[in-house]
Amino acid sequence: MIRMFHVRKTFGGNVALRDINLHIKKGEFAFVTGPSGAGKTTLLRLIFGAERPTSGHILIDGINLSRISRKRLDLLRRRIGFVFQDFKLLPHKTVFDNVALSLEVMGERQTFIRKRTHQTLRSLGLAKKETAYPLQLSGGEQQRVAIARAIVKNPVLLLADEPTGNLDPDLTKEIMLLFRTIHMKGTTVVIATHSRELLDRTAQRKIVLYRGEIVGEEE
Ligand SMILES: Nc1ncnc2c1ncn2[C@@H]1O[C@H](COP(=O)(O)OP(=O)(O)OP(=O)(O)O)[C@@H](O)[C@H]1O
Ligand SMILES: [Mg+2]
Repeated sequence: MIRMFHVRKTFGGNVALRDINLHIKKGEFAFVTGPSGAGKTTLLRLIFGAERPTSGHILIDGINLSRISRKRLDLLRRRIGFVFQDFKLLPHKTVFDNVALSLEVMGERQTFIRKRTHQTLRSLGLAKKETAYPLQLSGGEQQRVAIARAIVKNPVLLLADEPTGNLDPDLTKEIMLLFRTIHMKGTTVVIATHSRELLDRTAQRKIVLYRGEIVGEEE
């Protein structure tokens, strides 16, 4: 699903990632971990095509991101769910519309969009917040809307950047269970986190970044 060859990313003189070589197979569930500033967000953004590598190549589902047109990249991204570390919710749209929009851009039918959006929001305990606006919600509620928006379209690949950073322990457990359910249904899942709590409880693959390099892997 994801292949990276000698990927390097710099911002000015700042090296965010250096010589990353990585293979995440279809159907895998992997964590990307490492301290703040290690390059986790940069790695996910490169996989999503939101940033381009300074050098090296990235293949997603066999497609070389450095060779595809803007239009094909947009089509590919529609099949990827991304939970942003800073949520990136649209402030002037309701919770329901923020989530439904993911399906609207895919050209789904209105009846399906309504049903699927309600169902997804309910599974995240947000049924009562559908008509609220993002800024009327708590941090944890906003985070769950961001998760709903990413999973509503049944993505082939789910990239989640510190998705439980604002949640209490009970909600964290619930969200992890939800990610596992999505994974069981066939979605490849990659979660970036520095939460020890999240990592200690799992037996999944862990890719450890330190100062822009993969310094270890635990399976
Ligand atoms: N847009 C940018 N412009 C300049 N430097 C950047 C940019 N994005 C990331 N960096 C730098 O790249 C490095 C890696 O940042 P990144 O956000 O990927 O780390 P992270 O592992 O996600 O950290 P955190 O755990 O705090 O979210 C940092 O040194 C950061 O300052
Ligand atoms: Mg980050």
